[in-house]
Amino acid sequence: MRPSKSLTTLARWSSAVSALAGLTLLSGCKFWLDGHQSTIEVAGPVAADQRHIFYVTCWVTLVIFVIVGAVLAYATWKFRARNAEEENILPANQESHGNPLIEVGLIAASTLALVIIAFPTVRGIWYTYEVPAAERDNAYEVTATGFQWWFKFEYPNEQIENVGHLITANELVIPAGRPVHINLRTTDVIHSFWVPKLAGKVDMIPNRGNSLWLQADQPGYFWGQCAEYCGDSHAVMRFRVIALEQREFDEWVEQQKKPARVVAADTAQAGEARAQFASLKEWRRNAPGYTDKYDVAPLDAWRQHQHPDANEDPALIAQGRKLFQEKTCVACHTVRGHEGVGIGYPDLTHVASRTTIAGGLLENNPEQLARWLHHPDEVKPGNKMYVAGYVPNEIKLSDADVHALVAYLESLK
Ligand code: CUA
Repeated sequence: MRPSKSLTTLARWSSAVSALAGLTLLSGCKFWLDGHQSTIEVAGPVAADQRHIFYVTCWVTLVIFVIVGAVLAYATWKFRARNAEEENILPANQESHGNPLIEVGLIAASTLALVIIAFPTVRGIWYTYEVPAAERDNAYEVTATGFQWWFKFEYPNEQIENVGHLITANELVIPAGRPVHINLRTTDVIHSFWVPKLAGKVDMIPNRGNSLWLQADQPGYFWGQCAEYCGDSHAVMRFRVIALEQREFDEWVEQQKKPARVVAADTAQAGEARAQFASLKEWRRNAPGYTDKYDVAPLDAWRQHQHPDANEDPALIAQGRKLFQEKTCVACHTVRGHEGVGIGYPDLTHVASRTTIAGGLLENNPEQLARWLHHPDEVKPGNKMYVAGYVPNEIKLSDADVHALVAYLESLK
């Protein structure tokens, strides 16, 4: 049977799509694939290797697509029905079955295509699996643990006297220009650790010790995301990676090892005014807690978060610290040196030095923190702070309570 008109149309459309796909690849996708979580605009060797594999696969399949599309278009055109009579005439010799040249040729071409893809893929699997031997002694070690829905980061080599090792949450700070080996763990369900600009995703699986390595070539601020469906708030289980020069990283470690600040009336001093991370200062219910309109570059905003606020109110902070005990927050959150002792939830000893809160979802500023404390269930549906904290303990926070708690938490630099 001759190809019908709809088949001819299909062939034309597939040629157009193929041309568009080719143009997109040729343009390097730079115009519209350079977002925060781009795997095209990468910032380290592991992600670059994975991008290379992606490109090789794309080019090979593009060649196949163009050849098959061209043959289809040619056959559709060449053997089309030119009038009503021809609609019912079968062409002679419809099949290539029994043509050894075509059959062997197609098998050989397919094998060649697979070999071309297999070489960089197998090499890439070995490369990205473990820090290269020559660099292994230089690698920095951290452990990332997934929780519904946030990430805990541990620094096993940064010991704090009489305490153990350094623990933070949701913002992984690493040295730049150095491989970082990350042990991946989970306490509940399967999560997946993904920093698109630095390395492809690896699952965090219960009772299985996975790991990955990555390296940020330059200091920078990178967006991460849980990449495995893990329940209600999977889509908002985010984190950040902050890469710093070794010296600045060492300073950060020393600062983080210290116990929580105590802001007494006589020690309160005007520190550097903290720039907002973004232009998002007000909040509305159900509005995004985040914007891409930055006042300052994200890494600079992160640096400014390391300094105390200019207008601290010691009395209000003290009141917030008291509320932090009375409202039972202390049972779930560690604030080293203060009353907080809980270990199952994010360590808040230096929470104000982070640029984000609520699992990387909200910008860390007083307004968004107030929003989080007022409506945790709306911000991150199903989260444990609400279902295992607020609800069973009947925690009610007045505006004044939230005001004081915000002052306290924002003082924890
Ligand atoms: Cu954790 Cu999705």
